[in-house]
Amino acid sequence: MNDVFAGKHLVLGLSGGVACYKSAMLCRLLVQAGATVQVVMTEAAEQFMTAVTMQALSGRAVYTSQWDVREPNNMPHINLSRDADAILIAPCSADFIARLVQGRSDELLSLLCLARPLERVPLLLAPAMNREMWAHPATQRNLAQVQADGALVLGVGNGSQACGETGDGRMLEPEEIMEELAAHFTAKRLQGQHLLVTAGPTFEAIDPVRGITNLSSGKMGFAIARAAREAGAQVTLVAGPVHLPTPRGVTRIDVQSARQMQAAVQSQLAEASIFIATAAVADWRPAEAADRKIKKDGSGEVPAMAFVENPDILAAVAGSEPARSGKLYCVGFAAESHDLLKHASAKRLRKGVPLLVGNIGPATFGKDYNALLLIDAGGSKELPHASKDVLARQLVEEIAQRLAPGHL
Ligand code: CTP
Repeated sequence: MNDVFAGKHLVLGLSGGVACYKSAMLCRLLVQAGATVQVVMTEAAEQFMTAVTMQALSGRAVYTSQWDVREPNNMPHINLSRDADAILIAPCSADFIARLVQGRSDELLSLLCLARPLERVPLLLAPAMNREMWAHPATQRNLAQVQADGALVLGVGNGSQACGETGDGRMLEPEEIMEELAAHFTAKRLQGQHLLVTAGPTFEAIDPVRGITNLSSGKMGFAIARAAREAGAQVTLVAGPVHLPTPRGVTRIDVQSARQMQAAVQSQLAEASIFIATAAVADWRPAEAADRKIKKDGSGEVPAMAFVENPDILAAVAGSEPARSGKLYCVGFAAESHDLLKHASAKRLRKGVPLLVGNIGPATFGKDYNALLLIDAGGSKELPHASKDVLARQLVEEIAQRLAPGHL
């Protein structure tokens, strides 16, 4: 299991801000990911979101007051802060940051932040405010101080704000906060590594409006990029045409064709210490792409089309000097339809990679779940059916083990 949120207990604190609407989704994502969530709201937060909604989503009664009589010892600030694996304030208003800086404790949320055991309960902040408030020297001064006092500030988004202005200060999207939290809880097993990963299909043009592609969604490669970044690696993701958001903290290079993908990979190779080829690269491309759309001429004749083979990106990288000298660890993928172990084992040798990851292509293309078969010189190992996020974290751990000093 590498389910980073399973068994985690979070206090989710809401202070006042329009971004409270995003915290409802955040709470849902956390619960879906296996965490338990105890919501605490300030009086201002209750102007934007009801405790009823947050209770329904978290499955737990919400706390809003330090005078809550439900606690037998009447000390919710102690009881709630002792059990938490982390306290996350989202949204964290400018006023709430100022309160943390001053060590204020006249309402439950700031009181429990002050009462938390500093050395074992981390405090994470997802600020949300108007861009002028964010840029104001007072806020920036407070942010520096709250970090010096041990809080982790997750950053803000940039874009259009509820007030109608555009700039920095939006709360991160729930999915982005999930990625930051996952990174926070993940051991930095790939610290110091630079991982280069290809993902998605390629698109080989026939003419300006048509082309050849395949059903790869890119989800596995994007999940690996995300998991590697969570584990501390610097990550560059070379992506074919897919509709997926860029994982946080990952450098993304978008390409269309196999040859563009190869050029992008080659341009990044000098920096890389790990290369993972998850892309479903088209094996062939039309020998010539027409400059103009090929038109029907009414005769009923279909155009003849000749193909040429695309470069094998993985085989070329695996045969390069850094890979052969052991400076670059290469991982290939094999999408098969049958006889997985046999075909994937043969492919590992043919591609010349130390580790090959087999999966059943038709069963996984476009899906959020997969199962993997890892094949290396020592034999094979199954990573059973799980979400691609979980499998990606397990694969990252497997690679980290193989890179660890002393591994045979
Ligand atoms: N790959 C690549 N460049 C190509 C073709 C494949 O980098 N032109 C990589 C894929 O990203 C994957 C691995 O090679 O990591 C296996 O690709 P696959 O297409 O499954 O294997 P093929 O060698 O094309 O064999 P076959 O089509 O016979 O299954």
